[in-house]
Amino acid sequence: MEIMSNLFSQKIIILDFGSQYTQLIARRVRELGVYSEIKAWDARIDASLISDASGIILSGGPESVTDGANAPKIPEILFSYKIPILGICYGMQAIAKFFGGEVQSSSKREFGYARLKKVNESLLLEGVADHRSEGNEEFLDVWMSHGDKVVRIPEGFSCIASTKSCPIAAFSNEQKSIYGLQFHPEVTHTKQGSSILKRFVRDICECDEVWTSDAIIEDQINRVRELVGAKSVLLGLSGGVDSSVVAALLNKAIGNKLTCVFVDNGLLRKDEGDMVMQMFADNMGIKVVRANAQEEFLEALKGVKDPEKKRKIIGQTFIEVFERESKNIGDIEFLAQGTIYPDVIESAGAETGKAHVIKSHHNVGGLPSEMKLRLVEPLKELFKDEVRKIGLTLGLPKQMVFRHPFPGPGLGVRILGEVKKEYADILREADAIFIEELHRSGWYEKTSQAFAVFLPVKSVGVVGDARRYEWVIALRAVETIDFMTARSAPLPHDLLETVSNRIINEISEVSRVTYDISSKPPSTIEWD
Ligand code: XMP
Repeated sequence: MEIMSNLFSQKIIILDFGSQYTQLIARRVRELGVYSEIKAWDARIDASLISDASGIILSGGPESVTDGANAPKIPEILFSYKIPILGICYGMQAIAKFFGGEVQSSSKREFGYARLKKVNESLLLEGVADHRSEGNEEFLDVWMSHGDKVVRIPEGFSCIASTKSCPIAAFSNEQKSIYGLQFHPEVTHTKQGSSILKRFVRDICECDEVWTSDAIIEDQINRVRELVGAKSVLLGLSGGVDSSVVAALLNKAIGNKLTCVFVDNGLLRKDEGDMVMQMFADNMGIKVVRANAQEEFLEALKGVKDPEKKRKIIGQTFIEVFERESKNIGDIEFLAQGTIYPDVIESAGAETGKAHVIKSHHNVGGLPSEMKLRLVEPLKELFKDEVRKIGLTLGLPKQMVFRHPFPGPGLGVRILGEVKKEYADILREADAIFIEELHRSGWYEKTSQAFAVFLPVKSVGVVGDARRYEWVIALRAVETIDFMTARSAPLPHDLLETVSNRIINEISEVSRVTYDISSKPPSTIEWD
């Protein structure tokens, strides 16, 4: 267990004050090879948590420290240990307030690039600069997003950098290793952001680079073996990134003690079932049970038009199929899930009742209680980009690891109204053409999610001399970071034309193709 203790023995705690960038801070720290963990500012922060940390970063946040008792505060215990602390934006203002400095509230926000001038020596910004003047003054291009600012430095601190509109843009107390930055080093717009975080994490907190894909895989393999012993594990394999990476990881850890169940519900993309079976069963030698349940799902969905009802029926049928298959397999004690770190953080945030701080996560769950399975969740500490890196290290092909997400109810929410096999077959073909052309044109990687939607309306067309009265297909492609907000992807017109021509020429049941240009909000990404 040597690796295991090394991996987590040095960690950076990120105290979250509700910034939209908190997860980004945690990811940046991990990119530097150091484990990071997010805690809500009002979570139970005890002595063992703090004393185990190599450093603490205080995030930004939407509140104002000038709001008196209502303002989120830094737990006093943080300053009882001699651990380096870096406050970003709200975090800096909260440090100023805690040590008796002054913060001025303002409803006028400063948002965007600023030129930062170093005004004093500091370990944090040492050797980090974008520009130098002839007089050897050093400057950095940084990204600002704030209203309030520090206007009087607390005793024991000194100003280390200024901008025109924010004279105290960074401060430090070198003796206590406490630092504050008004700008955001975690966003890529701050050119030297990674270097600044590296100064903090690697030089000031003295953390080593141990958080790497190989080390994480080795650690997880050891942990899974220890937890599972000689017992058997079941994994619901969907063909998505997370469950695929869990399959590859568990296969390495416990080999034939793992059985995967892949449910073909008739609502999958073209060739998806064969692709999953080929990759996992044929190439990787993983035990995969393919449950052919197409008719069962279509039968359950017969005559149902309401989107919510369709979702519920699909979810319920999944459970029935899954339960049946697991009983057939027998002797299963563990259930593996592809839960990833953002799911865990969001659930923890929801417990504190600060709904605006982190949204609540709704886990799919819904397993029958009599199964009494224990959970194995080897990706629970990882962000999506880390999961992808691990997938590649484990030998999963790139096209699988960088696939767009696909919703659990599948084509069931992309066929508006009643779901019929005939519609699903048409949609599968249209979707495959769209995705193929996106790959061919290099647009697949530039979009976050893209798919076709079946509209149950008929429209007139002319093909050759013949009149055609057939179905309509809508195309949807979006750009998004977190899938909470999204913008329609600006696909080139000639690409859309190629896709439209191919769909209408190759699928005789389609006479018209449209492109969805709505944003989320107010529209959602899926149509149903
Ligand atoms: P919406 O349509 O809510 O989609 O803007 C946001 C993201 O969630 C996916 N999605 C689902 N995923 N079960 C899932 O597993 C669902 O019922 C579901 N509905 C939407 C959607 O594909 C997008 O990535």
